[in-house]
Amino acid sequence: MSNPKCEVLLSATQIAQRVKEMGEEISRDYAGKKLLLICVLKGAIIFASDLMRSLTIPVEIDFIAVSSYGADTSSSGVVRILKDLDQSIQGKDVLIVEDIVDTGLTLNYLRDTLLRRQPRSIRVATLLDKPSRRKVDFDPDYRGFVIPDHFVVGYGLDWNQRYRNLADICFIPDDNFR
Ligand code: IMP
Ligand code: MG
Repeated sequence: MSNPKCEVLLSATQIAQRVKEMGEEISRDYAGKKLLLICVLKGAIIFASDLMRSLTIPVEIDFIAVSSYGADTSSSGVVRILKDLDQSIQGKDVLIVEDIVDTGLTLNYLRDTLLRRQPRSIRVATLLDKPSRRKVDFDPDYRGFVIPDHFVVGYGLDWNQRYRNLADICFIPDDNFR
């Protein structure tokens, strides 16, 4: 899908190259182990499916969906689980796969919640990181790209549920786009 009003921040080619590198790094780090990917719906679906295919270790996948916090909970960072995992993660090596870390509230909460289920290990891979927007101290274990404080869409990321199908990651230069 092309969109003339969308300004490309990261091209499909750049993304593919970086995701391949991330897959190689993760495969090295987990050599000899089996990894459970936890894809955070919906934004991470495309990243997770590409990352999964770039892994050379035995891998399984499960899905979790969380609500974005409303205005009232934005400072507490409490996130509601809308769809939970199908399986127990106790004793497993778990990698949470997310599209973007912005304020850090979602992943901070999700990681703490999943840690209480006693996985053997838990790490976070995010495709994008906007460190300038952090409200809580959160450091992903694997990150694809650090980006400036722009709202971006494409490659799974949405604006009001749209534009997830863009192959490139784009930012919204003006209101015409919306
Ligand atoms: P958090 O602020 O780190 O908790 O991120 C919450 C969620 O907001 C992310 O998982 C994304 O789904 C969404 N989000 C944050 N920044 C963007 C963006 O630039 N584009 C699209 N979604 C975003
Ligand atoms: Mg998300």
